[in-house]
Amino acid sequence: MLRRLYHEQPESFAFTEANQTWAEAQITKYPEGRQASAVIPLLWRAQEQEGWLSKPAIEAVADMLDMAYIRVLEVASFYFMFQLQPVGSVAHIQICGTTSCMICGAEDLIAVCKEKIANKPHQLSADGKFSWEEVECLGACTNAPMAQIGKDYYEDLTADGFAKMLDEMAAGKVPTPGPQNGRYASEPLSGLTSLTEYDSGKTQYNASAQLATDIGDTIKRIDGTEVPILTPWVGKDGVVAGRAAEGQPPKPAPTPKPAVKQAEEAKKAETKTEKPKAKKPAAKKAPVESGADDLKKLKGVGPALEKKLHDNGVTSFAQIAAWNAEDIADMDDKLSFKGRIERDGWVDQAKLLAAGEETEFSKKVAKGDVYED
Ligand code: FES
Repeated sequence: MLRRLYHEQPESFAFTEANQTWAEAQITKYPEGRQASAVIPLLWRAQEQEGWLSKPAIEAVADMLDMAYIRVLEVASFYFMFQLQPVGSVAHIQICGTTSCMICGAEDLIAVCKEKIANKPHQLSADGKFSWEEVECLGACTNAPMAQIGKDYYEDLTADGFAKMLDEMAAGKVPTPGPQNGRYASEPLSGLTSLTEYDSGKTQYNASAQLATDIGDTIKRIDGTEVPILTPWVGKDGVVAGRAAEGQPPKPAPTPKPAVKQAEEAKKAETKTEKPKAKKPAAKKAPVESGADDLKKLKGVGPALEKKLHDNGVTSFAQIAAWNAEDIADMDDKLSFKGRIERDGWVDQAKLLAAGEETEFSKKVAKGDVYED
C-alpha cells in the first residue's frame, strides 16, 4: 500500500498543554544529541491526540527534536501503526486478516465494514464516525477472528455481533473488550480442563479486558489530562518528582553573577530579530568569552546544549551553581528539556567545578574521552 501524506491537511498542529509537558519529558530520557530517539513516542502521542498524523503534526515533532522534516516523515510513513489520513471520529477498526482469523471468519467482518462503514479501507463512513482497515496478525489467534478497536482487542467475533458492536459505538457506548462469545480468556470453548483451582478469585473479565474496562480509554482521544503523565521525574504539573515546590531543600544564597550588561547589549544590537526576553534578569547573562568555562564538563550538557546555554548568556559554572528554583524553571523552558537540569544535577556539579574541583565526568571530558574536538 502506498503511504503518503493525505491530500487535505489542517493549517496547524499543537500538542495540548498536558501532552506538550509529557512530550518534553520524554525527550529528557535520551542523552544529549540523541533526542531523535523520542520520535516514535512523540508521533504516537500526536496520533493519540488527533487520531491521525497530519503534515503539521509531523513537522511539529521534527521541530521539537531538531530533525529534518523528511526524517520524521520517513518514520511516520514506514510504520503502519501511524495513520496518515483522517480516521473515524468514534473509532478506527483494524480487522486481523491473517491465517487464523481468515479461516475463522475475518472476511465476514470485513464485509460488515464494507457495508456499514465504507467500501474501501481508510475511507471515512458517511457520518465520519468510523474508518477501517485490514491488518496483519495481532497475536490473538486463539481468539480468532478478532479486531483491534482503538486501544483494545475484541475477540471471538461473529459478523452479527460485530455489526451490533458498531451500532453500539455509533450510539456512544463502548462494548466490553475481550472475547465476545462467553469465553473468559483463551481457554478451550468447552471450559477449563486443568488448573481449575485458579478459577476462583478471578476478576470479572480476564486481566487485559479488566484493565481496559477499568481505564475506560478504549476509543478515547488522549489529550494528556485523562491519564497520569507516566514520566517518573516530571509530574503533571511540571514539577520534578520528589521536589514539590514547598518540599524543596533550602537553596544556598545566590552568589553574585558576572556583570556583563554592556557586552550583552552589544550582542543584542547585532541580533536585530531577537525577541525581548522578559523573564530572565539581564544581570545573569554573559557573552561567550574566551575565558568561558567548558560547560560540556557538566554531565547532561553536550555541544548543542552548551550552545543554547551560551545563547542564553550562561557561560560559567559559577552562574549555574547559583541557580535557584526559579532560574532552573526559566532555563528548562528556554532549553525545552524540562526536568533535565534537576535530573542530571547540574547545579551540584557546577558548584564543584566552580570551586576548582573535578567530577568523574569532567575528568573524562578533559581527557577528550567524551567529545571529539
Ligand atoms: S491471525 Fe488474527 S490475531 Fe493472529
